Amino acid sequence: MDVRNNPWIMPFVIFLCFSLKPHVSLGADTISANSSLSGDQTLRISDGNLALFNESKILIWSTNLSSSSSRSVEAVLGNDGNLVLRDGSNPSLSPLWQSFDFPADTWLPGAKVGLSKINNRNTRLISWKSKDNPAPGLFSLELDPNQSQYLIFWKRSIQYWTSGEWNGQIFSLVPEMRLNYIYNFSYVSNDNESYFTYSMYNSTVISRFVMDDGGQIQQQTWSASTNAWFLFWSQPKTQCEVYAYCGAFWKL
Ligand SMILES: *[C@@H]1O[C@H](CO)[C@@H](O)[C@H](O)[C@H]1NC(C)=O
Ligand SMILES: *[C@@H]1O[C@H](CO)[C@@H](O)[C@H](O)[C@H]1NC(C)=O
Ligand SMILES: *[C@@H]1O[C@H](CO)[C@@H](O)[C@H](O)[C@H]1NC(C)=O
Ligand SMILES: *[C@@H]1O[C@H](CO)[C@@H](O)[C@H](O)[C@H]1NC(C)=O
Ligand SMILES: *[C@@H]1O[C@H](CO)[C@@H](O)[C@H](O)[C@H]1NC(C)=O
Ligand SMILES: *[C@@H]1O[C@H](CO)[C@@H](O)[C@H](O)[C@H]1NC(C)=O
Ligand SMILES: *[C@@H]1O[C@H](CO)[C@@H](O)[C@H](O)[C@H]1NC(C)=O
Repeated sequence: MDVRNNPWIMPFVIFLCFSLKPHVSLGADTISANSSLSGDQTLRISDGNLALFNESKILIWSTNLSSSSSRSVEAVLGNDGNLVLRDGSNPSLSPLWQSFDFPADTWLPGAKVGLSKINNRNTRLISWKSKDNPAPGLFSLELDPNQSQYLIFWKRSIQYWTSGEWNGQIFSLVPEMRLNYIYNFSYVSNDNESYFTYSMYNSTVISRFVMDDGGQIQQQTWSASTNAWFLFWSQPKTQCEVYAYCGAFWKL
């Protein structure tokens, strides 16, 4: 399974990453080769790859990196939510694989959504098929390769929304994305890549940016007092602005 061409697995990884979180106790964020986790699934790091097997030991998914000779590959779940596969004997080297490169429908602070000019990979958000089905759905959010703006596509081909161009401070059509005291979005474009990333001005605030299954992007923060996600802003503002949502476009 080539992870680059098979978006199907991405939600799985993110799902796994989050579902593991409660099982990983403080100070135990590292899975070494052949060790397992509590819960229904077992991670094995097999042949230097992170692999997922079902109960019949059939390979469901793997990072499918070309075989590494290192025996010391380890997976580390960071406090930022990034699951990183790295060479345990040299953790400062760049990751062999990281879940931040395969964001599925969720963009966490510190992750990049954009384009790599080196391998032409487009890191985009892809909605789930439905609330309980993480298979790739109809909607995606991606960087416009020609300009510093985001576009939302229906079926990866029909554009129905744009953030407007980034002017260094805000997206012209979505000022709330940046003009606030919570989210710090920034745009980086250099020889290797073009992407947006964001951080929280208050790093203790937990936040996520989600492309929901109905074609809307939503910025949410976790509210500890209500134990629920609080919607900070969303776009397009009404569901009928979402392509094909209200039926008018089905004729096309
Ligand atoms: C793993 O990657 C290789 C090389 O990119 C590809 O030929 C192969 O089909 C992939 N394996 C799976 C199971 O997808
Ligand atoms: C993991 O298990 C395989 C098969 O049992 C074994 O060959 C390999 O040496 C083990 N790796 C480590 C790091 O223990
Ligand atoms: C494991 O996956 C294989 C191949 O998709 C499938 O045939 C088998 O039924 C699965 N086993 C379980 C226990 O889900
Ligand atoms: C970017 O520019 C290329 C070449 O002009 C064009 O083919 C492509 O459709 C443009 N992409 C978007 C998303 O507008
Ligand atoms: C906002 O993000 C930029 C780029 O990552 C960073 O340099 C800057 O320090 C951040 N600002 C604040 C106030 O955190
Ligand atoms: C681009 O990638 C090359 C090779 O990895 C690296 O040496 C260089 O510093 C990178 N440039 C930037 C601007 O990140
Ligand atoms: C940061 O957020 C936490 C709650 O998550 C709050 O208790 C704290 O006062 C905030 N810090 C600042 C400087 O606003």
